[in-house]
Amino acid sequence: DKGNYRHFMEKEIYDQPEAISDTLSHYINFSDNQVVAVWRDTVFANVQSLAISACGTAYFAGLIGKYWFEHYARLPVEIDVASEFRYREIPFSPQVAALFISQSGETADTLACLRYCKEHGLKTGAVVNAPESTIARESDTVFPIFAGPEIGVASTKAFTCQLAVLAALAVAAGRASGTLTEKEEQTLVGRLAEVPRVMGQVLNSIRPRIELLSRELAKCRAVLYLGRGTSFPLAMEGALKLKEISYIHAQGYAAGELKHGPIALIDENMPVVVIAPHDRFFDKTVSNMQEVAARGGRIILITDEKGASALKLETMQTIVLPNVDEIIAPMIFSLPIQLLAYHTAVFAGTDVDQPRNLAKSVTVE
Ligand code: M6R
Repeated sequence: DKGNYRHFMEKEIYDQPEAISDTLSHYINFSDNQVVAVWRDTVFANVQSLAISACGTAYFAGLIGKYWFEHYARLPVEIDVASEFRYREIPFSPQVAALFISQSGETADTLACLRYCKEHGLKTGAVVNAPESTIARESDTVFPIFAGPEIGVASTKAFTCQLAVLAALAVAAGRASGTLTEKEEQTLVGRLAEVPRVMGQVLNSIRPRIELLSRELAKCRAVLYLGRGTSFPLAMEGALKLKEISYIHAQGYAAGELKHGPIALIDENMPVVVIAPHDRFFDKTVSNMQEVAARGGRIILITDEKGASALKLETMQTIVLPNVDEIIAPMIFSLPIQLLAYHTAVFAGTDVDQPRNLAKSVTVE
């Protein structure tokens, strides 16, 4: 049931504060701000590295997870799109755990990777939304995301719930490996617990701004998305979201790669969406933005209050979010990314919930 919403996608975007809150309640012990102990001794017990595979949006969640596992747990992560993973013929060792991410739990390429890893004797774990799915049944450990049914073909709440689980698991892995102290874990978990409230605040305030910008985007032929650090996978996710529902070509790039090719595309007809919270990468991303501005490119900057006051370019439009901790920024910054794609598609008049040529669950390789 869509309730008062026009599309399932819209409803699912607005479901996120509650979905994240449900998800976190299974991973976090709010009385002591620690990750629930059972998650600590699972796939990560005695592993030396993780190999993640997934498709589409779930893959981008995995890429953000890679930054987290490496940063908070010092656990090396390999990650591939599931359709390529097997072709690399990775020389596995028993200290590798394989992690799969899938909303439906039925994606053929991801399932094929899971079976391949099991044949090679790896421990397996799966972050899934559908608990009865094949991937959930065949993995050694299941990390459910509790997003509730996701009907819109474009994945929204499943993505942010995957991020919530990956963040909690990275913190758990950090404690298990001794990289994080108990106090650091409590601080990080406290930040995660703020996500539903901050999401609610953002969802209540940014819509008019997003609608204004989307009306313009709907007239464009192509859009570039840029980001650094965890904002780089988010840029790719933003581009995927836009192209799949509005049919406007979009590409997500690491901000630093701009000068290695895509800058040739920049002119006054090419909007560039820059995702840049005021984090340790901010200044570098700003200099990439200046390269765009100097060539007449139209910039839509998604930043936080600190970022907005640190920078004013005349040619730039901004979406300003509250200042948040680095570990929750990807979840909060997902909201404008999703809403921008959603409203652009509405203005373009496409079939938002059932985009052409796409299926909710891709069961062929
Ligand atoms: O069910 P899964 O998470 O395994 O699906 C993976 C992709 O097919 C999926 O995320 C797809 O990219 C979405 N339509 C993106 O919005």
